[in-house]
Order: sequence, then C-alpha cells, then structure tokens
Amino acid sequence: MSIDRRRFLLAASALGVSSALPGTLLAAPARNEKRVDLTASAFAAALDPTTPTPTGVWSFNEQFPGPALRFRREDKVHFAFQNDLPQDSAVHWHGIRVPNAMDGVPHVTQDPVAPGDAFDYRFEFKDSGTFWYHPHQSSFEQVPRGLYGALIVEEDKPPVVDRDEVWVLSDIKLDDQRQQVEDFGRILDIANEGRLGNQVLVNGQFAGSGRKVAVRAGERLRLRLVNAASARFFRLAFEGHQARVIAYDGQGTTPHTLPADGLPLGPGMRVDLIIDCMGKPGQNFAIRDLGRPPLAPAYDLGTLAYGDERPVRNKPLSSPIALAPNRIAEPNLGKASQHVIMFQGGMRGQPVIGMVDGKPSRIQDIMAKQGLAWTMNYHAQHEHALMHEPFLHLKKGESVILRMINDTAFDHPMHLHGHFFRVLAVNGKANPRREWRDTAIMGPRQTVDVAFVADNPGEWMYHCHILDHAAGGMMGTIAVE
Ligand code: C2O
Ligand code: CU
Repeated sequence: MSIDRRRFLLAASALGVSSALPGTLLAAPARNEKRVDLTASAFAAALDPTTPTPTGVWSFNEQFPGPALRFRREDKVHFAFQNDLPQDSAVHWHGIRVPNAMDGVPHVTQDPVAPGDAFDYRFEFKDSGTFWYHPHQSSFEQVPRGLYGALIVEEDKPPVVDRDEVWVLSDIKLDDQRQQVEDFGRILDIANEGRLGNQVLVNGQFAGSGRKVAVRAGERLRLRLVNAASARFFRLAFEGHQARVIAYDGQGTTPHTLPADGLPLGPGMRVDLIIDCMGKPGQNFAIRDLGRPPLAPAYDLGTLAYGDERPVRNKPLSSPIALAPNRIAEPNLGKASQHVIMFQGGMRGQPVIGMVDGKPSRIQDIMAKQGLAWTMNYHAQHEHALMHEPFLHLKKGESVILRMINDTAFDHPMHLHGHFFRVLAVNGKANPRREWRDTAIMGPRQTVDVAFVADNPGEWMYHCHILDHAAGGMMGTIAVE
C-alpha cells in the first residue's frame, strides 16, 4: 500500500526535504543523535507479584509497559522501530511536536509498518515535559494489549526534588486464567464509555493497597502520571498529603494545589505533581482513585509507605517548583479564525444522521451495520485508511479558536496532534488558568473552547482518546498548509 501523492507531498514539505529525494536527507545520522531501538512483539508479562502466572501482552522491547525513555530538550533522536507483531503497526509520540512525517499515523503520515518491517523515526525534542508513545494503528486493540510507554524530556533546570517517578496508569481485561479477554472493538463498548479493563495497573503491576510506594520522611517527590488506558479515567487523591500540580500534558502551569476531590485524568492525558512527604517514619497513607461513583466506585491504587529512616528534612523544601515555559506560539485571540466542531452519537444520544462513506445514514443503522457510533461535524470516519478530507484547512501561522460542542451523553478527551492549545472556556465560562494541553476533556453536553496557532505544517489527527470512540468514528484530521 502506498501513500497517495498529496499526502506524500504534505509529509515531504513538513520535513523540508524535496519531494524528488524521498528520505535521502534522512539517512545520514545527525550529530549527537541518540539511537533507540524499539521492537514491538508478543511477550509474557508478570503483572502480579503474588502469583507466577504470566499474562500474554504485546509490548515494546519485551518490557511492559514499554521502557520509560528519558531525554533532554534539544536532543536529537533516532527511534529504530521494528514491527514483530502479527499486524501492521507504527509508533506515535503523543504530545511531542514532531514534523508531520514522523508522527506515526498509518495512512495519514506514513505507510503502515507491515509485520517484519522497520521504520526510522528521527526528530528533535523542542519541548520538555511528560509525554508517551503508543501505536496509532488499530489503537483500540494494540494499546490495551500493552503497547505504551512513557517518554520524558527533562527541563534544562528541573525543580529540585529527591525523587522523580513516572506512573503509567492503565488497565487490563483478564479472564480467570489471567489471560487477556480479546474482545476488542465491540459495538457495545464503542457506543458507550469504551472498553474498560477489570484490573487497574500502575507501571504494568496490579494496583491495590498492597502496592507500596516507599518514601522517606521529608522527601520531595515529583510524580508524573500518564493515563495510557484506552477508556478509563483516573482521579487520584493522596490521603494526608497536599499534592501540587506543576504541569498538564507536559506543559508547565502556575503551581496549584490538587483539589481534595482530585482532578480527572482522561485517556491520553498527563499531570505532573509535586508532593512533599511530611508524614512520620513508619506511617502509611492511602493513594486513592476516587473514580466516578456510583458507576465507578473509589478504590485504593497504592499506599505511600514511609520507611523507618530518620527524616531527610523537617520542613518541606522551599525551592521553587514552577517549570520554565516551553516556547509555544501564543494565539492572537482578536484575530483568530473561529470554527465549530459538533460531536454527536453514542448510546443515549439524539437520533442523528451522519455521513458515512459519502451517504447519510441514521446513527442506529450505522451502529448496526458499520460498527461506527459517533460523528464529528456530521461525519463518522472509519479508521485512518478511508478518511475523508480534513475538517479544517488552516494557514500556517494562523491563530484558531475551536469551539467543541459535545452533544452526547459521554465524556470525550479530545486530542490534537502536532500542537498544544490553550483551554479558554468551558460552557462559555472563562477558564482562569488557560493551561496548555494536547488533550482536553469535554464533559457530557459541554462546550469547550480552545485556541492555538496552527504552526506545524501537515495533516494532523484530531480525535477522541477513548480509543473505542476513535475507532467508532470520532476522529478526523486538521490540515495546516
Ligand atoms: Cu495518543 Cu492520536 O494519540
Ligand atoms: Cu470519546
């Protein structure tokens, strides 16, 4: 299968290479380029320290989750991806502002990587922050099978902490033999809240109060939370501790206290927290996921377990925790073009009509016949291969306000590739923090306004990060030309 000419030109121009020389300029390794080999394959992972039964997963480099990769800002990297899966695949670098041709979206930015084949990703890290990587091919199946990992780009001057930890939060659906239930892509999940696992995982290990996170009294901890689950939301709270938020989706924000009832972290989203561990030696504190009662009850995700050593210090560190901002172009709201994207469909939604394959159909019929359940601006899209024209054609450098109207009964964490946007308002009410994000939650029947500068040329995915919703039509692209 080959990329069509239009896509090829778009990809080539994004890289600044002449279309007459496909790839040749990419062949020479850049100076100081770091090579990382990433191989996707089947693997047997031990998820529960209390039982020896391994679970079959798909993983990167026979690690589950994939290796937590760490870089510095301005590092150049060469990811040599090898696909040893029984399916096509590719790797997407979630939140990294890469040239379009390196974005890892099969049929949109590159050809799918066939089983046994390889693909070279080369780019430079412009932004520091907490990011992650995962396939964008059949992601409703490949991600929950286990293909995800954290990708950290360190700040030039990170805040002083005693420990910097990454928690990749996810879940897995296991049968009583502790093997994965392979019921991916059911319309029941697609048209509702997505496919949930029955076991929550933290860094690939069973969550629960038995999962001890060892800390020492007086320590300052930086916790990077990555939600790699395909449909589950997390809302963490730390008993007896004040956690402060310093970044959303890797981008620094004015430090502020995590509310006692937590902050929802939707699929794809990240948050960086600073926790001063001011408990006493020997004490234990619950780390709770407050869930979404009554549907999803609260449970213990782990325990902050203080060691017996004497405190590192008796007062919390007073050094600053704010992150220096990355260089992201500020949208000019006065001159911004404005666009509306309407989201419809799903169970308990209006009986809407959507365009599928160029034909108008009732959403109930689409669900029954095409396995699709959602529309964006009245179109339901099949996974990448058959995508229609981009929703929007933006000029490079244009400031844009997107008004996203959620006319459905469900939450949708909406993700845009290649850019960060400011969250301006929810239901018309100004958001005082105006944080940068690459993924923003639209609550049921909510309207969310975001703004960004379309400064990264190419055709970019714009989709719900509940991966079953994306597979069920809630995806499309935005072209920057
Ligand atoms: Cu995390 Cu379009 O991806
Ligand atoms: Cu959704």
